[in-house]
Amino acid sequence: MREKLVIRGGKPLCGSVTVSGAKNAAVAILPATILCENECEIDNLPDIVDVHLLDSLLCSMGAKTSASKTTMTIDAGGVKEYVVNNDAVKMMRASYYLLGALLGRFGKAEVCLPGGCAIGLRPIDQHVKGMEALGASVKTEYGMLKAEAPCGLVGTDIYLDIVSVGATINIMLAAVKAKGRTTIVNAAKEPHVVDVANFLNCMGAKVKGAGTDIVRITGVEHLHGCTYSIIPDQIETGTLMIAAAATRGDLTIKNVIPTHMEALSAKLIEMGVTVEEGDDTLRVTCQKKPKHVNIKTLPYPGFPTDLQQPATVLLSTAEGASIIVENIFESRFKHINEIRRMGANVSIDGRVCVVEGVERLTGAPVRATDLRAGAALIVAGLMADGRTEITGIKYIDRGYDHIENKLKQLGADIHREKLEDIDEYDLM
Ligand code: UD1
Repeated sequence: MREKLVIRGGKPLCGSVTVSGAKNAAVAILPATILCENECEIDNLPDIVDVHLLDSLLCSMGAKTSASKTTMTIDAGGVKEYVVNNDAVKMMRASYYLLGALLGRFGKAEVCLPGGCAIGLRPIDQHVKGMEALGASVKTEYGMLKAEAPCGLVGTDIYLDIVSVGATINIMLAAVKAKGRTTIVNAAKEPHVVDVANFLNCMGAKVKGAGTDIVRITGVEHLHGCTYSIIPDQIETGTLMIAAAATRGDLTIKNVIPTHMEALSAKLIEMGVTVEEGDDTLRVTCQKKPKHVNIKTLPYPGFPTDLQQPATVLLSTAEGASIIVENIFESRFKHINEIRRMGANVSIDGRVCVVEGVERLTGAPVRATDLRAGAALIVAGLMADGRTEITGIKYIDRGYDHIENKLKQLGADIHREKLEDIDEYDLM
């Protein structure tokens, strides 16, 4: 059933909430289970559409899975198929991890080209460069990405021309069972890169240096089953921190890793928001209008592009003008048109937008065009006067674990409604 989110804004978010496991780690760790032929138990999985899609994909390939709440066991021993041509793959950006995992296990892989959020060109040349350096021949044919290493994969030095989370993880997946040593130079350092490396090591791989810009992998012959718990979601945490500030709330967020949030915490503090760190909690309080700040998105530990959209919304009612530079994805300002409908005053020039703080946002029908734009519109709805209706929420469900239930529990007036034909805005 197609649905929309309906929010009556203006209520401060107060209380405490627990974040779910990291989507971006989960969507890499589930394909990574293909690398071993025994059972893996993965805990702290978020209950999101992308995880369900991967579950059914793994089953369609011959894996046996069983899931309960936040835990899934996967036995990929029965996977014999190295060709994945499935509608689910086309819907998910992270399906490219199947390429690295299948190549690592079988020495060949055929995966239909990935889908995912339309936030820029999103080429995969660095993934391909990495696989080729390891000895695979890679070609695109009939919408499929085909990779084959008839003589096996052999470790080598790979310099990434651009810092890419996906390419770093994908090369790690392909290299853990390659012969000899692989070095990835200019690797991404995001928390979920480290989480995937920790999971691989838990299966018996030898990955060192994840979290720095040089990752060294010594190939092993076999990987074994293991039990692993995924890290908390950095972006869900950040979205909630921003929502707390945007609604002038008092929110304690539990099950977080505060060091993962430093770039956002620093910006919130610069805005005049109070951020208190505990061991695995963050308390965010905000009583007055935030001050304007400038933000440049950068690879970790810089300000995450995934939080740029919600942060832009927060700044739309700040005091003064803020300048936001989006350095990672070229089309990540699609939420701006929507918040303009709510009264925001924002101008865009290429990768730069200038947000002039206005007194308030007012509720309106708006449409999510991608996952984080959806999160940004939820923040906008929570801070606006009156009723906001958000369509396109299939994007939000891909990556946020029952976000409206969590917000409701914090005092927000938010619920789902069936989408009527009259909600034509969603059909555009
Ligand atoms: C991942 C995250 C996404 C986040 C992004 C940046 C997952 C599933 N998704 O996406 O939420 O916004 O990191 O933190 O983890 N690029 C190339 N060639 C390549 C690969 C990437 O030019 O082969 C470019 C991209 O177009 C982009 C930049 O590199 O401009 C960074 O992309 P990348 O880090 O690869 O993002 P994703 O892994 O797709």
